Amino acid sequence: MKRIERPSTADQYSVGMLSKDSPYERERLESIQRSVDAFTISIIQGLPSEASWNCLELGAGAGSIAYWLAGRCPDGRVVAADIDARYLDAGRAANLEVQEADITHEDYTPGSFELIHARYLFCHLPMRDDMIARAARWLAPGGWLVIEEPYHLPADTSPFPLVQRLLAAYQQKFSEHGADLTWARSLPAQLARSGLSEVSFAGNLGCMGGLGKDRWLPLITQSGPSLIADGLITETDLARFADLLKDPAFIDIPQVTISAWGRRPLENTNADASVGAV
Ligand SMILES: C[S@@+](CC[C@H](N)C(=O)[O-])C[C@H]1O[C@@H](n2cnc3c(N)ncnc32)[C@H](O)[C@@H]1O
Repeated sequence: MKRIERPSTADQYSVGMLSKDSPYERERLESIQRSVDAFTISIIQGLPSEASWNCLELGAGAGSIAYWLAGRCPDGRVVAADIDARYLDAGRAANLEVQEADITHEDYTPGSFELIHARYLFCHLPMRDDMIARAARWLAPGGWLVIEEPYHLPADTSPFPLVQRLLAAYQQKFSEHGADLTWARSLPAQLARSGLSEVSFAGNLGCMGGLGKDRWLPLITQSGPSLIADGLITETDLARFADLLKDPAFIDIPQVTISAWGRRPLENTNADASVGAV
């Protein structure tokens, strides 16, 4: 496994609230996978993929999509990159390469991947618009960039006062850490601005509550101690949230995952032919 020096800038994923030193981080990542993998897979299955594709999974987390891609593209290779790769298992497939890398410092060879995918990563990155343009350059001609990010609905529109408080605290904390939980809305435009064609998008509604469909308990459990330390919520709020999850009438939609994708145009071998061809 390739290793890098930790970035000098404070990063909530390497040293902060969402660091993998937290005992709750693995469960949080796995709960994300359980709730969104089916949606992600349906999006990628909709692309005209080939067994020989070289794929790059950015911010691979606990690895489910990288492992799935390795099976889907057995004649290609999959690079699974994460700033902290401790939950990635390079032994899962012969064509899988795990790379511990801060992707804001990484520069892959232009044109080297037929598919680049990232989920719940770009909202955390500084200079996220520029990062889209860089990732687009790493695509081979005809390759696809698929980015999936959360769009949080306004906390004060929740029908549950406790959820209004919890979500407002969560959103404030993430924003203080430099995350933008509404940036996802600009994704399609950003892909088009980066020169990609065939830009398209879809949404997947998140569920809070709904008896068993919830993935928020691990998220709130993970960030809870920081939110309490900052005085944004109380221990009682957390206990009441756990109780609320047992109520069959507790169902809320806190966010939408926006998935957007675009394709690097095939290179035109005869530039003159395209001029004037409308
Ligand atoms: C919310 S998790 C999502 C994990 C995975 N993409 C998923 O959806 O299941 C974000 C992941 O991005 C990684 N990450 C955050 N900043 C990164 C950076 N600058 N470079 C590489 N990975 C990063 C984190 O370590 C974490 O594993």
